Amino acid sequence: MTIDIIIGTQWGDEGKGRIVDLLAAQADLVARYNGGDNAGHTVTVGNQTFKLHLLPSGIIHPHTLCILGSGMVINPETFIKEIETLRAAGIDVQPGRLKVAYNAHLITPAHRALDAAQEKALGKGQIGTTGRGIGPAYTDRAARRGLRVEDVLDESAFRRKLEDHLQQANHTLRTLYAAEPLDVTATSEAYLGWARQMQPYVAEISLIVAAALRAGKRLLAEGAQGILLDIDHGTYPFVTSSSPTSAGVFPSLGVGVGGAGRVLGVTKAFQTRVGAGPFPTEVSGDLAVRLRGTGSNPWDEFGTTTGRPRRVGWLDGVLLRYAARINGLTELAVTKLDILSGLETLRICTAYRSSEQEYTELPLGPGNLAVFSPVYQELPGWQEDITSARRPGDLPATARAYLDAVSAACAVPIRLVSVGPERDQVITM
Ligand code: GDP
Ligand code: IMO
Ligand code: MG
Repeated sequence: MTIDIIIGTQWGDEGKGRIVDLLAAQADLVARYNGGDNAGHTVTVGNQTFKLHLLPSGIIHPHTLCILGSGMVINPETFIKEIETLRAAGIDVQPGRLKVAYNAHLITPAHRALDAAQEKALGKGQIGTTGRGIGPAYTDRAARRGLRVEDVLDESAFRRKLEDHLQQANHTLRTLYAAEPLDVTATSEAYLGWARQMQPYVAEISLIVAAALRAGKRLLAEGAQGILLDIDHGTYPFVTSSSPTSAGVFPSLGVGVGGAGRVLGVTKAFQTRVGAGPFPTEVSGDLAVRLRGTGSNPWDEFGTTTGRPRRVGWLDGVLLRYAARINGLTELAVTKLDILSGLETLRICTAYRSSEQEYTELPLGPGNLAVFSPVYQELPGWQEDITSARRPGDLPATARAYLDAVSAACAVPIRLVSVGPERDQVITM
């Protein structure tokens, strides 16, 4: 068997959690492979709404084995609190069905403090991070001085490493950023309390994944963030510090590339972004309020992790085509089509124009998008409420034409269309 990969094709928040939950009904194993608690994946089941930051969205189904891969950075406090929240909501979460890669890295309070200090020092050039310590944790990993999940297994050695780490971070906070240092004793005492509770979950996950593949089990890999936030292939430097691309699955789960199955790209029917960075199809004014919502619905465009209003705009077909190429997308899941109901005219960006020329492919990737203005294809909208549509034929012809244009923009077939956050609000195409 192979691993089906589910990724975000935009700047995150495409509805990955909702799609993973849907597909996890037929999966045996679900693995998150990148990022940390910067992610916020929402799963809606009846009157229950789950906001997952670290655990794979497949955890909501009782039958799945869930894994956190080595490509992740994990804050033990978030990890334990998320387990407690899920248990309180009646979800069975215990070490028998949740495994964390021994070689994933840990996020500490010092990483969070450094994240805040670095953002402050950037002034107007801020990335607009989630403040969860993601960048500093991946920095320590690359600098080969990070704390790893396996370290929690030897408490006395871990205490020493942790204290060294906090002292070094304090030095940087004080000297480089004139920021408040952390209280080493109190911080490490509290942190050790959370880290100790992680011990039963630590595992060599590559063995588990290999055994599952051999046994013909059905595996899903759940990306966090989106391709345009990828450290290499995104809108650098306005990116996160991990690899949300489909290729990020393999080093994270310790599996060879032959393990790849289908690659499903989750695409919102329009475009959103939270945080700074270029966004050629961004809109403002009444249309922005219309796409974002006001916060009265749970699905309105406010960050799942930070509550920040998301920037909104028209679907960017150039970036979607790019996402299809970089990730080898085999199919698309289009979410939030219902939000476009009631708009008279819809737009999809099919090319970019710079002063001299028109481009249908990005000449140098998405880093320098600010120099382009979008060229739009206009399509008629539909007025009907489509939230009860369950078959392609239930959709107005104009909605089907819009989906055809999305698929044509990236040359990838659409497999699923979501018309609401609930499990059953989906159309298989
Ligand atoms: P993720 O980070 O990609 O998992 O996405 P988020 O959970 O951060 O944001 C997606 C939001 O849209 C959540 O509130 C979902 O419940 C909601 N959602 C997902 N699909 C649909 C849909 O088709 N229609 C509507 N109205 N809401 C949706
Ligand atoms: P999910 O998995 C949307 C954005 C931040 C910021 C940039 C870097 O829910 O789609 P970081 O804290 O990672 O250093 O911030 O990345 N960002 C996200 N935006 N959805 C996410 O996750 C995000 N995770 C990070 O807003 O612009
Ligand atoms: Mg999200």
